[in-house]
Amino acid sequence: ERSLLGLKELDKAEIESILNRAAYWEQHPSKVHAALSGKFIANMFFENSTRTRFSFEMAEKRLGAQVLNFTAAASSVEKGESIYDTVRTLESMGIDAGVIRLKPVGVLAELAEKIKVPLINAGDGNNEHPTQALLDLYTMRNHFGSLQGLTVTIVGDVMHSRVARSNAWALRKFGANVRFCSPPNMRAPELDVPEVTMEEALKSDVVMMLRVQLERHEGGKLKSAEEYRASYGLTAERASRIGSHAIIMHPAPVNRNVEIDSELVEHPQSRIFKQMENGVPIRMAVIERALG
Ligand code: CP
Repeated sequence: ERSLLGLKELDKAEIESILNRAAYWEQHPSKVHAALSGKFIANMFFENSTRTRFSFEMAEKRLGAQVLNFTAAASSVEKGESIYDTVRTLESMGIDAGVIRLKPVGVLAELAEKIKVPLINAGDGNNEHPTQALLDLYTMRNHFGSLQGLTVTIVGDVMHSRVARSNAWALRKFGANVRFCSPPNMRAPELDVPEVTMEEALKSDVVMMLRVQLERHEGGKLKSAEEYRASYGLTAERASRIGSHAIIMHPAPVNRNVEIDSELVEHPQSRIFKQMENGVPIRMAVIERALG
């Protein structure tokens, strides 16, 4: 039984085996398998989600598991119960694994020391979002055949992005050339990823746009959506200058016409909905690894 707290600590071979197992599940598209019949998995979301929550639920149900959905707003968290007491409560009821999304950074590692069932990180603050980066790597590998030598530029609000962090940790293990293109007040220098201009970003194999995460901003970092779009947005004009082999990615949800023009979301070179589709086999592989 294995937790998945982040990709920083996961080695390349383990990541590769998850990607390969996701490919297996993609090639076995039957709606329901019996692999995890008799297992109970709790999805514990202390922060809002659409894609991650429902693709975990889809993955769990496709593996034949029993699924319990916990939403903080409809729980005793509203009465002041702590995250630890909530997770411990579900564990005491007999869950076999927990998928957890949290706002604060650092709590997940503490929980994993005390909770005996495997925990899967579904996003913790701005720290890591490992299953998002796994589905991103899977999407890139499917398109290009290999991650080695790929130039991937992650554009936008890197400071608040767990997606940027998990992708940077993982992609560099595969020999990808990772760069950031971010506003000076939304950077993450501790990651030691080189910064490039927007013009340089357009020369990448993968242009990965990030959502401006207003809910994590302190003190008016975003002056105006128009100004942001003009400097760091993937506009239709800019997208017309990316390579014909290149792909556009975004973890979503998308702020249309802020970080990416609305007409690009379903552009032929966009993989945004493909990323969401790939989230299901990736999460099947991760859950199976946790309970295998
Ligand atoms: N990409 C992603 O994590 O989306 P949700 O917040 O909707 O889960």
